[in-house]
Amino acid sequence: MERFNREMEEESRRKFGSRRVVFGDGRINAEIMLIGEAPGGEEEKQGRPFVGKAGKNLDEFLEIVGLDREDIYISNVVKLRPFKLSPKTNKPVNRPPDREELDFFVPYLHREIELVKPKLIVTLGNFALKYVLMDKSAVIGVCHGKLIEKDGKRIFPLYHPASVIYDRAKGTVYLEDLHKLKEIL
Ligand code: URA
Repeated sequence: MERFNREMEEESRRKFGSRRVVFGDGRINAEIMLIGEAPGGEEEKQGRPFVGKAGKNLDEFLEIVGLDREDIYISNVVKLRPFKLSPKTNKPVNRPPDREELDFFVPYLHREIELVKPKLIVTLGNFALKYVLMDKSAVIGVCHGKLIEKDGKRIFPLYHPASVIYDRAKGTVYLEDLHKLKEIL
């Protein structure tokens, strides 16, 4: 994994300059691999996926499902923080990953999955679902909470935990999905 990370970082530097690459984190050969969209500001600062607010969401998630962070491998589709400058404050704010970032990082994500060889991949949100399945027509509103088997991979899609915070109905569905995941595990 170290060689993989080093190569990805070098190539990323060539293409995107000095933006910090936030590597996947956790036990290689973990049975469960969690895949989010991209690091945010706190992840970029600490150099670890799902820390800060997103990390708190993740801890709740792990507690419900009955897992420890040390038991799983956590990564993102895009490994740089996608940002733009806010016209109001001129400070960096998050934005969705763009074409260039996706084209660069998606092949690395698939190599990373090959290295970790998880028994189950849990995708968080639309980006992770589409780019793990490599199916642009897959949408989270339809696929969430259902186990998908494709090309020898088992994939369990969930809504992104950050997207359920302000939507109570979605929050209920998300909890039901977490309990389904717990049963599968
Ligand atoms: N932090 C991450 O590392 N990934 C996400 O998808 C969201 C927050």
